[in-house]
Amino acid sequence: MGRAGSALKQVLETYKISQNRLATALQVERSVVNRWFHGQVDPNGETIVAIVQALRTLNATAAERFIQLYLGDLMRPTNATVQLRPSQPADLDFVLAAEQHPDNSPYVWQWSREQHLAALTHPDIAHLIIEVPTRQTPVGYVILIGLQNPNQSIQLCRIVIEVKNQGYGKATLKQVKQLAFQTYNAHRLWLDVKVGNDRAQAVYHDAGFIIEGTFRDYVKTPQGYDSYRIMSLLRPEYQP
Ligand SMILES: CC(C)(COP(=O)(O)OP(=O)(O)OC[C@H]1O[C@@H](n2cnc3c(N)ncnc32)[C@H](O)[C@@H]1OP(=O)(O)O)[C@@H](O)C(=O)NCCC(=O)NCCS
Repeated sequence: MGRAGSALKQVLETYKISQNRLATALQVERSVVNRWFHGQVDPNGETIVAIVQALRTLNATAAERFIQLYLGDLMRPTNATVQLRPSQPADLDFVLAAEQHPDNSPYVWQWSREQHLAALTHPDIAHLIIEVPTRQTPVGYVILIGLQNPNQSIQLCRIVIEVKNQGYGKATLKQVKQLAFQTYNAHRLWLDVKVGNDRAQAVYHDAGFIIEGTFRDYVKTPQGYDSYRIMSLLRPEYQP
């Protein structure tokens, strides 16, 4: 199967977009989409542009994911920059979809809409949307807890980046450290990460976090027990 067909198949399955819906949005026969889906023909350059436009009308995140899967590492910016802004109630559809997505849900705690909504205005919590200048839709969100902690200990409670391996996670960690140590005067910034979540651990290690220890068999799941690493960064170790 060609690269575009394979990317399209993955996106339609992940975001539960039927071949019919895409065919209607593209104004082509369903059999055309079906041939791409099954790798019998790969869409060409102009058609790929039309697919992106059609996907944007159905699901903007799916469109971004298609571009990322199709272009792969060519899309990776050499110096990714991100902007963090306070999440708004209107962002919660994005936040919940990202949190519940099968690529992310095994690694992050799940909150209800009400829990997220309450966090938006909680004085101890920073609930932030991650954006990049070149993309129309957010790339992720991050939650910090403990802004008013008397021990100056802030927890990086959650981070989800939808558009993975583009450097946005690392760029976000840079800003999270700045927020914690410079804006909120933290002494300690810490997090837990599931053992086996090697990508997240690589990002935290790169940001200077050290492993403090392991909560062994900390969470019970239908498959068994998951262990979690505690990682932290202290103010004297912080390098802007
Ligand atoms: C973890 C997460 C936040 C990282 O964000 P990201 O934007 O994908 O990360 P980046 O692109 O900035 O960096 C990823 C790094 O991990 C590396 N990496 C990717 N997969 C890896 C793996 N399996 N093992 C080790 N390193 C890995 C990449 O090579 C890259 O490092 P490099 O820049 O030196 O090449 C994001 O992938 C995510 O949301 N994952 C699902 C949810 C989650 O795990 N959240 C954290 C819970 S603690």
